[in-house]
Amino acid sequence: MNDDFTLVDKAFEPLLKAAAGNVHVLLKLAEQSRHRGDLNRAIELAKQAKDTAPDNPEAVTTANEIISRAIPNWHVSLVKDHQRNDAFEAALIRNIKPGMRVLDVGAGTGLLAMMAARAGADKVFSCELNPAMAAVAADVVRANGFADKITIIAKNSKDIDANADMDGRADLVVAEILGSDLVCEQVLPAMRDVVSRLAKPGAQLIPQSGDIVVALAHWDDLNKQRMDNTAGFDLSPFNQLQRPSFKLHGANPTLHLRGTAANLFSFDFSDTQTPEERVTMDLVADGGQVNGVVQWIRLQMDEEGELENRPGREATSSWACLFHPLPEAVETVAGQAITIGASHNGNRLRIWAA
Ligand SMILES: C[S@@+](CC[C@H](N)C(=O)[O-])C[C@H]1O[C@@H](n2cnc3c(N)ncnc32)[C@H](O)[C@@H]1O
Repeated sequence: MNDDFTLVDKAFEPLLKAAAGNVHVLLKLAEQSRHRGDLNRAIELAKQAKDTAPDNPEAVTTANEIISRAIPNWHVSLVKDHQRNDAFEAALIRNIKPGMRVLDVGAGTGLLAMMAARAGADKVFSCELNPAMAAVAADVVRANGFADKITIIAKNSKDIDANADMDGRADLVVAEILGSDLVCEQVLPAMRDVVSRLAKPGAQLIPQSGDIVVALAHWDDLNKQRMDNTAGFDLSPFNQLQRPSFKLHGANPTLHLRGTAANLFSFDFSDTQTPEERVTMDLVADGGQVNGVVQWIRLQMDEEGELENRPGREATSSWACLFHPLPEAVETVAGQAITIGASHNGNRLRIWAA
C-alpha cells in the first residue's frame, strides 16, 4: 500500500511542475488529490488555483468547494452550542493556574485553545488532524491576538512528539473529540496515548470522564424512515440496508422518553487501558408503547462540572441523540423490563434487543 502510494506520488511530481500557473490543471490535480485522500495536497493546490486566478469566479468557486469538502459542516452548530462552550470554559477557568501549559486535542476553530489562554494558561498547544481546519484555527488565533500564547500543530495527537512539538508534557489537557455516541471520534485510543506520552502524570483532563446513557423510548416518526409500499410496489427489502440507529435532535417533539436512564458504559479518560466491552442490561419502562432505545452522553468535566445532552423539549445541544429501533414496538406497563445488549470496540457502539 505504501509502495503504491509512493509510486503515485512520484508520478504526480512532474504533473505538479507542469501545472504551475495553469488554473484548470491545478484544480484537476486538487480534485484527484482529494480522491486519493491526500487532503494536504488537495487544499494546497486549490489555494494555488485561487492565487493564480483570483478574478476568475468559476475557478475560485471550484477551489472553495474542494477546500470546504474537507471540512465537516457540524463545526458551525458546535461553536454555537453555548451550553457546551460554557461548560468547557467554566472547567478551564476552575483548573488553569498561572504558569500552566495546556494541550488542546482537536483544535477545530481554536475556540477551546483561546478559552484556555484567556483563563490564564502560559502556553497552549492545540493539535488538529485536518490540515484545512488547522490553517483556519491559526488564522482565528492570530485574528484574536493569541498568536504568542497558542501554537496550532497541524497533526493528529498520535503523531505529536512532546519534546519536539510542545517543549515537554502538558499540565492540563482539554479534548473535545467526542461524537454523539461518545466513542466514534476515537476519544478512547487518543486519550490513552495522550495520557501516556503527552500529559504530565496526574494532569487534569477536561472532560475527566464520560458515560454513554440509554433509556427506553418511543419515536413517533420511526415508520416514516422505513420503506413500504410506493406506487403499488413493496420496497421493504431496502430496510435491511438501513443503519441500525437514527440521529435525532434531543428536542425532537416526536421523541418520547419511556423509562429510567441507565449508564451503558462509563469511561475514565485517564485510564491507560480501555478494553473492548460487551454488556447485557435490563431497561425499565415507565409504561406506554416503546419502539426503541435512545442514547445520549454525559460528561464529568472536572470534580464540579457536568454536561449532558439528555433528550427533552428544552434540549439545545449540538450533540445528537441516537435512536436504536427495537425489531417490534412493545406495549409496556410501568416497571416492565426490556433486555438489551451492547458493545463497543473503542470506536463503534452497537446496541440491540437481547
Ligand atoms: C468535535 S471538534 C471540536 C473542535 C473544538 N475543540 C471545539 O470544541 O470547538 C473535534 C476536532 O478535533 C479534530 N480531531 C479529532 N481527533 C483528533 C486527534 N486525535 N488529534 C488531532 N485532532 C483531532 C477533528 O478533526 C475536529 O476538527
